[in-house]
Amino acid sequence: MATTTTARLSLTRRPRRLRRTEAIRSLVRETRLTPDCFIYPLFVCEGEGVRREIPSMPGIYQLSVDEAVREATAAKSEGVPAVMLFGIPDEKDATGSAAADPDGPVQTAIRALKRADSDLLVMTDVCLCEYTSHGHCGIVEGHEIVNDRTVMQLAQAALSHAVAGADVVAPSDMMDGRVAVIRRTLDERGLDQTAIMSYAAKYCSGFYGPFREAAGATPQFGDRRSHQMDPANVEEALREVEIDLAEGADIVMVKPALPYLDVLTKVKDRFGQPTAAYQVSGEYAMLKAAAQRGWLDEPRVMMETLTGIRRAGADMIITYYAREAARLLARA
Ligand code: PBG
Repeated sequence: MATTTTARLSLTRRPRRLRRTEAIRSLVRETRLTPDCFIYPLFVCEGEGVRREIPSMPGIYQLSVDEAVREATAAKSEGVPAVMLFGIPDEKDATGSAAADPDGPVQTAIRALKRADSDLLVMTDVCLCEYTSHGHCGIVEGHEIVNDRTVMQLAQAALSHAVAGADVVAPSDMMDGRVAVIRRTLDERGLDQTAIMSYAAKYCSGFYGPFREAAGATPQFGDRRSHQMDPANVEEALREVEIDLAEGADIVMVKPALPYLDVLTKVKDRFGQPTAAYQVSGEYAMLKAAAQRGWLDEPRVMMETLTGIRRAGADMIITYYAREAARLLARA
């Protein structure tokens, strides 16, 4: 009598044939992660020899300029070509005037990084929230974050980064018209080779929590709903991207990454432009926390999330995992 062990189905298609060995899986792999698509965020503070770990982001530090240079060159030697700088100034005021200080931590770090390695790609976050005493991304009048005055201030901050030698400036404020004004301001100063990566579809997200601790940029009142996007919207994201491209953005970004992969795919499919995704602080913190409890296999979920973000359409990923992932890829 025939037993089930001898049963043979007559199947034309057996997809498992292509999953039998690592060699064949590798041949048919559709998405590849390489460290040259990573951008590594750095939090730059005042002082010297400062390396202060951020409690909710294990492995990530507030760094003085000298330490930031050390961190960036180490990352580059591991294959990560780019950093994204955030400033943590000692002095804040109501209008965030320190954002354009030529001797601020970011501007100083740009010059030091370029001196240390002129090939390192230096990107800067352009926003006022780290520089305002109230923690908002712009200038506040009454209870409103006023758009146009904020844009003028942001353009001065971006200009100071470009003058210091930044390759790419990345406005993260979500004010209207900022890409156009930054582009015009840079061009008027002959800085037409400085690229703009716009945080085009930036959602009002709970996943920025740990960043606000890292950057000391928590709003003292209210929230960011009047400028950052409603998580429920995707058509609006496409409009934002369209506007920023029309204003001269060279690269557009979707942020956060994991909860917005559909947005990423649509942006990439619709516009076919260089597209970045930001795996934000909360996405990193959540994996770290679960890994610390032994609930997740960290190397595995790190690679799975980064692969998913690439597969969804990101050409480049801003991630706190840049160095760890680059090291893991080097071992594979
Ligand atoms: C604003 C800015 C934020 C992040 C990047 N740029 C914070 C915010 O909008 O509240 C978040 C990045 C992260 O969570 O990793 N300057």
